[in-house]
Amino acid sequence: MEKRKILVTGGAGYVGSALVRRLLARGYSVRVLDSLLFGDASVKELYGNPDFELMKGDIRHIEDVVESMDGCYGVVHLAGLVGDPACELKPDVTHAINYEATKIVVEITKYKGLKRFVFASTCSVYGAAEDYILNEGSLVNPVSLYAETNLRSEEIILRGFDGTDVVASIMRFATIYGASYRMRFDLVVNILAAKAVKERKIKIYGGRQWRPNVHVEDAAEAAVMLLEAPASSVNREVFNVGSDEQNYRISELGDIVRQCVPGTAVEVVEESLDLRSYHVSFDKARHVLGYRVGRTVKSGVLEIQKLFEESRIPNYLDDIYYNVRYRYK
Ligand SMILES: NC(=O)c1ccc[n+]([C@@H]2O[C@H](COP(=O)([O-])OP(=O)(O)OC[C@H]3O[C@@H](n4cnc5c(N)ncnc54)[C@H](O)[C@@H]3O)[C@@H](O)[C@H]2O)c1
Repeated sequence: MEKRKILVTGGAGYVGSALVRRLLARGYSVRVLDSLLFGDASVKELYGNPDFELMKGDIRHIEDVVESMDGCYGVVHLAGLVGDPACELKPDVTHAINYEATKIVVEITKYKGLKRFVFASTCSVYGAAEDYILNEGSLVNPVSLYAETNLRSEEIILRGFDGTDVVASIMRFATIYGASYRMRFDLVVNILAAKAVKERKIKIYGGRQWRPNVHVEDAAEAAVMLLEAPASSVNREVFNVGSDEQNYRISELGDIVRQCVPGTAVEVVEESLDLRSYHVSFDKARHVLGYRVGRTVKSGVLEIQKLFEESRIPNYLDDIYYNVRYRYK
């Protein structure tokens, strides 16, 4: 029997490069459409795999999207400009990639007759929400262009498949941590872990803000579950992806890192420029999908420590690990 082919847009990125391997291991064939903003090192070792295909292209270009969807069963749409600071650099480019291009991907999905559409949004859409526990029905309050463009893309997706039999689902990821094939050190747990390991010193800004967390492999697993879940449970549904136990205040993340890397000094800086604070419920994915995470923040920190011990990160301050330091066209 021929394998089902899944298109992963942004498949060379932090989440995508983990997801691609998970899909291959589950017996799918995978095509990646990625503009390779951070290069192809994350997927290079897959080049010899007959079930893997990399297409360098841009989700803003209709021809690229049409070609990339040829013969595909479903798409996991991860490509985009990611993170608040990177998105503020050139608002027009952010708008085009994170919002306008979503319309293209949705329209071509319909035109090419794909069956499944899974989109990666973010819990950042909840924004600054004090201490309330937020679920998928809660009011959203995006406080950045990144969150706003993701939210507007969600709306496009929830409306865009009306009158079709495409099964479309949205994941609102918690903040992701852990080792992947394209590393990012602009994510809170990863940067705290790197600074603790390399400098034995971390800075906590503010500290009282709530932030839910999820391991990159658990995030990737959620996408697989949504591709495979019965249509009646997931069609036009939004799922927070993470776990209730991994809602932490930033200061608590600092404590975990300090425990994992003994001798780390913690400096608390009162002022925080990042207004986001959200405490999120992950009940829906647990009940509807049976989704459970397999990893903890502590295991993620130890994993990052191991990356350094094995000399797999020559210089964690290199621009390639920081989305905001890349120039987008
Ligand atoms: N990492 C997190 O903590 C987190 C949290 C919530 C949501 N998300 C969402 O998960 C998805 C993946 O995030 P990530 O952390 O892997 O980010 P990433 O920056 O590592 O990956 C994004 C990928 O998209 C590609 N890309 C960018 N613009 C493109 C374009 N115009 N055409 C084609 N490819 C393009 C990049 O080259 C990169 O490989 C994003 O949609 C993001 O919003 C991530």
